[in-house]
Amino acid sequence: MWGGRFATGSDALMQAINLSLPVDKRLARHDLAASQAHAAMLTACGIISPADGAAIAQGLEKIAQEIESGTFPYDEGLEDIHMNVEARLKTLIGAAAGRLHTARSRNDQVATDFRLWTRDALDALDEASAALLATLLRRAEAEAATPMPGFTHLQPAQPVTLGHHLLAYVEMLHRDRGRLHDARQRLNESPLGAAALAGTGFAIDREMSAQALGFARPMGNAMDAVSARDFLLEFMSASAIMMTHLSRLAEELVLWSSPAFGFIQLADAWSTGSSIMPQKRNPDAAELVRAKASQVAAALTALLSILKALPLSYAKDLQDDKPLTFDVFDKTLLSIRVMDGMLGSLQVQRDAMRDACQLGYLTATDLADWLVRELQLPFREAHEITGKAVALAEAKGLELAAVPLQDLQALHAGIHSGVYEVLSLEASLNSRRSYGGTAPAEVKNRIAQWKTELGI
Ligand code: ARG
Repeated sequence: MWGGRFATGSDALMQAINLSLPVDKRLARHDLAASQAHAAMLTACGIISPADGAAIAQGLEKIAQEIESGTFPYDEGLEDIHMNVEARLKTLIGAAAGRLHTARSRNDQVATDFRLWTRDALDALDEASAALLATLLRRAEAEAATPMPGFTHLQPAQPVTLGHHLLAYVEMLHRDRGRLHDARQRLNESPLGAAALAGTGFAIDREMSAQALGFARPMGNAMDAVSARDFLLEFMSASAIMMTHLSRLAEELVLWSSPAFGFIQLADAWSTGSSIMPQKRNPDAAELVRAKASQVAAALTALLSILKALPLSYAKDLQDDKPLTFDVFDKTLLSIRVMDGMLGSLQVQRDAMRDACQLGYLTATDLADWLVRELQLPFREAHEITGKAVALAEAKGLELAAVPLQDLQALHAGIHSGVYEVLSLEASLNSRRSYGGTAPAEVKNRIAQWKTELGI
């Protein structure tokens, strides 16, 4: 494509480091769409003849079919997908193919293709996460009143409902989707027609090609149009944040499915066995989601580093944005679907969760709150008395609710038998009905609100 200036071909290693076709062939569909829009615009502006425009359009259409059917003759000697398409077009329609690249450079071409691709990728992630959200809501609804220990520091803290716990992830994932939407909106501008970096002397219509490709507008600066990759940074950071959330949930599935917790059992379809220990049910998929989250974060860091000292405008460093981006997309989409599959099919071991609530004096805060409410004690004093009650219960090997009244009265004379009403699991759960709280009634309110918001 640029042989005119050179006497010899390039070194084999030069070709090896420069080759991007195996990776960027994934852009083929978007490259063809962008070329169609560009050719139509060139024709409409009278820059190429209607006959050439029609030949180009038909040739591109034929190439699209070849790519779709797997018959396109990819040639690694031709560096990237853009050169491959152009060379194939020349074989198919002859000299007119050479006019397609008028008022365009591979710099604005690849930026356009990649924005189109990333727009679709964001939509695919959004769709998959909408499905995961629906699954989380369905499971939360079924477990709106299921008690489990709530943890801080992974130490038993207060009783919560599993529904409440799952709704925490609904909130996270909903914000994650918001980040996908934001990124999509911001990237939806057209670089096409920026040419190499300075615009072009041809009287092109950038609005027209932008509109044909569903972009909101052409990008306002040709140098920025070919250099900017913050749309990928946003795509990757939105993905990395979502993956971080999925990884936390995956970690909980790993913990909860361990017999030491026994809170859930993953479906057979989502468990793996051990080749030596016949009793094992391993949560491999959750562990792999956890590991993929690290790699997505690493890809974001890699692209930040590629960009941070890159002078304007285009440099070949930018070619290496693609393996990173594709990898982020593949791993994130797979992880969302895997989490959906695991969560949709796991079995909740309600009894084990309830039993675990007997450990760790989960209703201690309820006792302290009761002392404040009932005896008008300052919270700090109530905290102190409750601490002593817990120590006493521990010494006697009892749950808080089983400590005899005289023992409690020895800590504060005002304590009466009414205290036992708040020390039960149900009383504790039902009392926390503040907005966003764990009470089953409140969890049901939030679920109803989510269903309205998400239209399910
Ligand atoms: N394959 C290249 C990339 O992905 C296309 C742009 C090439 N531009 C250039 N000036 N060499 O970035």
